[in-house]
Amino acid sequence: MCGIVGYIGHREAYPIILKGLKRLEYRGYDSAGIALFDGTDIKLSKTKGKVDDLQAKLEKEIPTNGNLGIGHTRWATHGVPNDVNSHPHYSNSGNLVIIHNGIIENYESLKKELSKRGYTFKSDTDTEVLVNLIEDVKKNENTKLGKAVQIALNQVVGAYAIAVFDKNKPNEIVVARLGSPLAIGIGDDEFFIASDASPFIEYTKNAIYLEDEEMAVVRRNKGVKVRKIKDDSLVDPYVQELQLNLEQIEKGGYDHFMLKEIYEQPSAILDTFRGRMLPNEGIIKMAGIEDNMKTFLNANRIIVVACGTSWHAGLVSEYIFEDLARIPVEVEYASEFRYRNPVITDKDVVIAISQSGETADTLAAIKLAKSRGAFVFGVCNVVGSSIARETHAGAYTHAGPEIGVASTKAFTTQITVLTLIALRLARAKGTISSSEFRHHMIELELIPEKVKRALDSDAYVKTVADIYKNAKNFLYLGRGYNFPVALEGALKLKEISYIHAEGYPAAEMKHGPIALIDENMPIVVIATKKGHYEKVVSNIQEIKSRKGKIIGIVTEGDEQVRELADHVIEVPETIESLTPLLTTIPLQLLSYHIALMLGKNVDQPRNLAKAVTVE
Ligand code: F6R
Repeated sequence: MCGIVGYIGHREAYPIILKGLKRLEYRGYDSAGIALFDGTDIKLSKTKGKVDDLQAKLEKEIPTNGNLGIGHTRWATHGVPNDVNSHPHYSNSGNLVIIHNGIIENYESLKKELSKRGYTFKSDTDTEVLVNLIEDVKKNENTKLGKAVQIALNQVVGAYAIAVFDKNKPNEIVVARLGSPLAIGIGDDEFFIASDASPFIEYTKNAIYLEDEEMAVVRRNKGVKVRKIKDDSLVDPYVQELQLNLEQIEKGGYDHFMLKEIYEQPSAILDTFRGRMLPNEGIIKMAGIEDNMKTFLNANRIIVVACGTSWHAGLVSEYIFEDLARIPVEVEYASEFRYRNPVITDKDVVIAISQSGETADTLAAIKLAKSRGAFVFGVCNVVGSSIARETHAGAYTHAGPEIGVASTKAFTTQITVLTLIALRLARAKGTISSSEFRHHMIELELIPEKVKRALDSDAYVKTVADIYKNAKNFLYLGRGYNFPVALEGALKLKEISYIHAEGYPAAEMKHGPIALIDENMPIVVIATKKGHYEKVVSNIQEIKSRKGKIIGIVTEGDEQVRELADHVIEVPETIESLTPLLTTIPLQLLSYHIALMLGKNVDQPRNLAKAVTVE
């Protein structure tokens, strides 16, 4: 959940680490810190707050020279966000300094043991326990840092990505990974450490992604030695060539990443189906599906596991798979699934959906499903992520890096991939005709242009946002394919504006939520022409007679809802199964504008982080 960065080489480490932390701030931003080795000693500065706060403090506090250093941006787990709990943490001797992303679950018992041996702790963190454990091992075993880290990690229960160095050995950084990502950028006689490749993309395109239970000693002028933490065996690491470019991880003229990512959806959706779908030839081809076609076709059911927005994309896919491919689908919160002793067999196909590919609950659900014999297929955005590697096969969404904490383009590209899979399976099973198959593909091909048209509503959505920005509550209603979109619209508003919002299936309103409706309640109703239109219009009548304020998301040219609603926002027409790709656009824009008008930090909402790598 936190972001870690490190540098060892011939350049000044500070600017590289600082810029890297800014790029990783999406992972957590309640406190930050940097430790630099200036040639003689470690200079460390850390603070509660954002990386900008750190920069202001650090540059007054310590010299910024040195070509070895580590930095951290935190999302608190153990210990409240404050200066003391911020990373990096020193060991008691002051010789070692560490940064850590993850949780050491047995830190209390380790802390007790270390306390008995005279160690003291300044912070409430599990990380300070770990660095002292490493120091204790190093002293007792009279061993090098790498070996000490290895022995210490074998005593640890939990998850981690760590980077640690010793001021008496300033030619190396030791890193290790279990459950939290860690990439090593390989430059010319210089090395970069980071939670993902974005901090070092302008310096090198070559990176090693450590696997779980691997550690590496990264030596100045010497290179990287990777080994298994458990059995000490050496690993020949795979050096991956990165596809990422700098433009993709910068704001490109937009005020916020979220807005940029909303506007990137036409190209993100196009990139996601490009090369996989050939409507004229009547072909959908995805390697992960073709290679495992038998498994899919013989499956009794599909179980989707995911969290948050990805779970909403999973709910949309339930409609698509059942509707088109006639395969029963269950959509599970990964966090519930993993603790419920679910009935899973080798006849089940599990689809795990995750933008980051690092969500701890989804990862645990995958491991559980695999242990019970299920085939697990991943739908991830981040290439080489833990979930992408843990699954048997998969298909990437080609959304490009999503930096804004509120997920936008990941949602629409997940739906795109899931639609392609459902269509491919439907055709293979013969549950749709070749003309229906072709029609769906032609409609999907038109979606990027239609998303562009949906984005034209931006200015009008802004005026609606201005009218309702002070509302205390919002309701979002939708039916069928657009019920998950209602949930997603409510989630977007909650997470960035902190306004309470609930999504409901429109027909459920009369079973309870209708009691909330009065003249102060804005209700966003998705009422597109395709999909239970008349029924939704009746729901709108029910709201109107209780004086609720109606914001209708309608198909272009709609007259009926326009008559009833206080405001209508139009989206282009498409087939029912693809309407979520369009109706979700104004809901993203509405939450963006409201949050902005309320002065909230749109890209980094409070208490949240982009990748939830803790339970
Ligand atoms: C919502 C949001 C979260 C994530 C959830 C799953 O805007 O960002 O709800 O969707 O934490 O994350 P991934 O998709 O990375 O597994």
